[in-house]
Amino acid sequence: MSNISPRQRTRLAESPSIAPERLAALPADFRFGLSTAAYQIEGAAHEGGRGPSIWDTFSHTPGLTANGDNGDVACDHYHRWPADLDLMVDVGVRDYRLSVSWSRLQQSGFGPLNGEAVEFYRALLEGARERGIRPLVTLYHWDLPQPLEDAGGWPVRATAERFAEYAARTVAALGDLVDDWITLNEPWCSAFLGYHTGAHAPGRRNWAEAVAAAHHLNLAHGLAVAAIRDAAPEALVGIANIVTDIRPRTDGPADIAAAARLDAASNRVFLDPVYLGDYSAQVRSVLGDALISVVRAGDLDVIGAPTDFAGVNHYQRVIAWHDDEGGPLRLGERPAEPATTSFGWSVIPESLTEVLVRVAREFTALPIHVTENGASFHDYLDPAGDVVDLARVEYLRGYLEAVTTAVERGVDVRGYYAWSFLDNFEWAEGYGKRFGLVFVDYATQRRIPKLSAHWYQRLIAERMSQLQPARITA
Ligand code: FCB
Repeated sequence: MSNISPRQRTRLAESPSIAPERLAALPADFRFGLSTAAYQIEGAAHEGGRGPSIWDTFSHTPGLTANGDNGDVACDHYHRWPADLDLMVDVGVRDYRLSVSWSRLQQSGFGPLNGEAVEFYRALLEGARERGIRPLVTLYHWDLPQPLEDAGGWPVRATAERFAEYAARTVAALGDLVDDWITLNEPWCSAFLGYHTGAHAPGRRNWAEAVAAAHHLNLAHGLAVAAIRDAAPEALVGIANIVTDIRPRTDGPADIAAAARLDAASNRVFLDPVYLGDYSAQVRSVLGDALISVVRAGDLDVIGAPTDFAGVNHYQRVIAWHDDEGGPLRLGERPAEPATTSFGWSVIPESLTEVLVRVAREFTALPIHVTENGASFHDYLDPAGDVVDLARVEYLRGYLEAVTTAVERGVDVRGYYAWSFLDNFEWAEGYGKRFGLVFVDYATQRRIPKLSAHWYQRLIAERMSQLQPARITA
């Protein structure tokens, strides 16, 4: 990057990269990307004909987000996207996972798209293309139009049908600019944080509704795959599920069973139907009637429709144990040690290898993209004007090495999209949790690439120079 300070240059020289022979193990078309989501960066909550989503309502309800933070302004990306894309090019990144906002494209959640929103996203996607940036676009990253929540939200089947209609219209409007689509981001969070723990929008606390939401999100994915195939037959389609590495606290049978229940209710309830075509006996027994009562004939064929790649978001290893008082799943859970991010999440790179190997062995032979992985730390702008996020550099090196280990073990991993390009609105945690490779000074909206951005840029450059000779002889 042109603007690296001499001090950052020294720190970078002291920060090892990934060994060339390990880097060379990755497939030639491996993508080194960055990831964001609309509500977390766009701002302009009341502009361009955008309607309220459940996150507007939730974040404006006192007491539900840290410091009462909301996404009204966020990173103001809605107005600053040209400079942001320039910065991405500067960081050397040509693969960008972003999401489009449902409540911007369809204020009330159905009907014709909002022309201003289409114009905005077309300009953004054309801007990406002009800069040689390949977009991977998520249709739903948690911003359900509020009118659809008022009509029942994800616990109601009709929401899945609304989503398929929105997907069809959006892909028809933007499909010439996008080759790769993701239907949903982490339906586990939408269903269980949104409708069971209430930690996320819409903040309901009802187990049966959360389970119904999980099935309807799966159904929404399946219906959207069909809609996307119709609107853009050449497009590649997948879903980004969070896959957590869940371990029992002890090797006693009660804790092992508790870990299996948590796995069923967080990983398998989403992976089973999409990749194996059915809810497993374990998932059916753990979720019981709440699940079985909402599954209709034919749903599993819809949900299991073939996709083109598997998106895996990974953050944590979690420890689980049996606890009769521990809610509907009768368990307790906590992040594994060492819990070292500012979120208290674990930093255990081997977990990513384990998760990738597991997805490939137990669920699907499809190419896998790590569609999110990253960490929040207490980053700050130091007096010299630098952000020296050595912990994130370590994190990225560890987790990218974990990806290469998975590839060496035969897993077909094709991409890694670090979370996140910019510091942004971290949902219920507000702006206090910084995940970006680029620091955002919210008072001025100035962007400052952290040491990790320089490190990632160097890694991508090393990778490019490895590929160059192959290209010339090819
Ligand atoms: C994931 C979300 C993403 C971001 C990261 C930290 O669960 O998909 O939007 O909040 O966590």
